[in-house]
Amino acid sequence: MMNRRVMVKVPASTANLGPGFDTLGMALSLYTWIEMTIPSDGSTVIELHGDGLEGIPTDKSNLIYKVAQQVFEAAGAEVPELQIAMYSDIPLTRGLGSSASAIIGALTCANALIGNPLSDDALFQIASELEGHPDNVGASLFGGIVVSAWDGSRAEKVRIEPHADLDVLVAIPSFQLSTEKARHALPTQISMKDAVFNVGSSSLLVAAFASGNLDLIAFAMRDRLHQPYRAALVPGMEEILDQATEHGALGVALSGAGPTLLTLVHKNSPRKAELDAFLSETLGKHGIQAQTMWLKPCAEGPEITVSSKQQEQLFMERIKGEVRA
Ligand code: HSE
Repeated sequence: MMNRRVMVKVPASTANLGPGFDTLGMALSLYTWIEMTIPSDGSTVIELHGDGLEGIPTDKSNLIYKVAQQVFEAAGAEVPELQIAMYSDIPLTRGLGSSASAIIGALTCANALIGNPLSDDALFQIASELEGHPDNVGASLFGGIVVSAWDGSRAEKVRIEPHADLDVLVAIPSFQLSTEKARHALPTQISMKDAVFNVGSSSLLVAAFASGNLDLIAFAMRDRLHQPYRAALVPGMEEILDQATEHGALGVALSGAGPTLLTLVHKNSPRKAELDAFLSETLGKHGIQAQTMWLKPCAEGPEITVSSKQQEQLFMERIKGEVRA
């Protein structure tokens, strides 16, 4: 165990998919990489690579370090010092599950470092507790589309293979929106009518994904539980939710707590450029700068590579060919 070097590549995720608030998640082809080794002597070193990571602590208050310690504690192992390197292509605080990816990366990496004593289910329970909901962490851990329910002490899930014809187009606004702020915008009570609407939509959406019925997505992705209350936080969102299907989307939703907007698109759609322009122009019209990005659902969870500490290639050299930048 002392001689291991573990690297993990973890997918980003989108949560809710419209009506499945805190329940549905889908892994996306955008990644975070984390590498861990146990230093032979010396103390903890945390290297963060990539843009937008300023302000993230590099001491023992770092999230990845703290989550790794939870694994060691649960497994009865003592590993007080760690060398950690991290790079992420997932923009922070935009609704693409960057914190869930960091949590899943830390859990799977630390677990592999000590010989995988904890099951994926055990990691899923820790991650759901840490995030407070299982949607993003479930998708990053299991890949594909993950339907999960959490009762406050236990999370259960069923994974659905994403349809091979699904492409994903996201519009990522340049401003950040914290999940906390986006959750504060939600009411404490909703009407029975809206609850029934969401139960129907979310159930139908899951059935549509499971049966491969892509034509039902637009109808089933509608939501009355959170998106209407969050619309004021993302100028242009209402128009995009109302009109994206008229511009070639199979369905549209706020990605997680936002501000990213997510559309599902048939991979052979002839209207991809039109949809791309519609998203950018609509946000632009409301004074919001945004970057659009074409992604795929990611069918796999974390990809773990275990090598020996003698592996001398530097972390950034090892992932160079795969990162977006
Ligand atoms: N389900 C969560 C929400 C995802 O919408 O608040 C963001 O963490």
